Amino acid sequence: MSEPAPVLDPAGIASGPPSHVAIIMDGNGRWAAARGLPRSEGHRRGVEALRRTVRAAGDMGIGVLTIFSFSAENWTRPASEIRDLLILLRRFIRNDLAQLHGNNVRVRIIGERAGLEPDLHSLLNEAEELTKNNDGLLLVVAFNYGGRQEIVRAAQRVAESVRSGATAPHEITADMLRGHLDYPDLPDPDLVIRTSGEQRLSNFLLWQSAYSELVFLPVYWPDFDGAALQSAILEYQRRERRFGGLEARTAS
Ligand code: FPP
Repeated sequence: MSEPAPVLDPAGIASGPPSHVAIIMDGNGRWAAARGLPRSEGHRRGVEALRRTVRAAGDMGIGVLTIFSFSAENWTRPASEIRDLLILLRRFIRNDLAQLHGNNVRVRIIGERAGLEPDLHSLLNEAEELTKNNDGLLLVVAFNYGGRQEIVRAAQRVAESVRSGATAPHEITADMLRGHLDYPDLPDPDLVIRTSGEQRLSNFLLWQSAYSELVFLPVYWPDFDGAALQSAILEYQRRERRFGGLEARTAS
């Protein structure tokens, strides 16, 4: 990958990019409808936007990029759309994995894997396994993911620990619960971007986004690119983060 391009704030002072950017890639369907195209075409163009975004994030020196690729609630969509989305995910892993690996990207998946079709399960494992020693951009793919479900899974693991006698109830802390999330080492996102103009989290990274800066962009996901990412980062850099205190500070 090329040298990270410095991200400039409006005053022209170079400041660091957020370490972790998480994106709710929304608006594929509306992008397609606006052009009289099938929703599947919106999703297909959404994958192209994803490729551009991964490249741009790497070039900007962002450490972690988390993307919401399929929510635990997306199973309620029509079967044909679910099929299209799963085909695209399979294709994305099969076609893009070698290149991601070549670009030193490490891939991790969060979400419920139990119950997925065996070949999809294997593909997700393969993506993680092949790239596990890479130390470039960390690409976290949230698949079959819901923030509430993730917190419930963590609570179940903590409950097991209490039942076995390894933990007393008063020993349960936020740090401990966090340690039982799908990917305990995942840092909190500094910036959560949602495209399409909708302004909600829709069950995405509920635990981790407690102090994230939220930026909502009026662009449909298939039109997202490096410039849109840059504009969200500039907006982020204008924010003052206080984490409940009085002083502005950076993430720890
Ligand atoms: C939201 O658009 C997007 C999704 C439900 C999934 C995002 C999927 C992709 C970008 C393509 C597949 C991803 C991978 C990793 C291969 P929407 O359908 O909710 O749009 P709408 O709100 O306009 O209907």
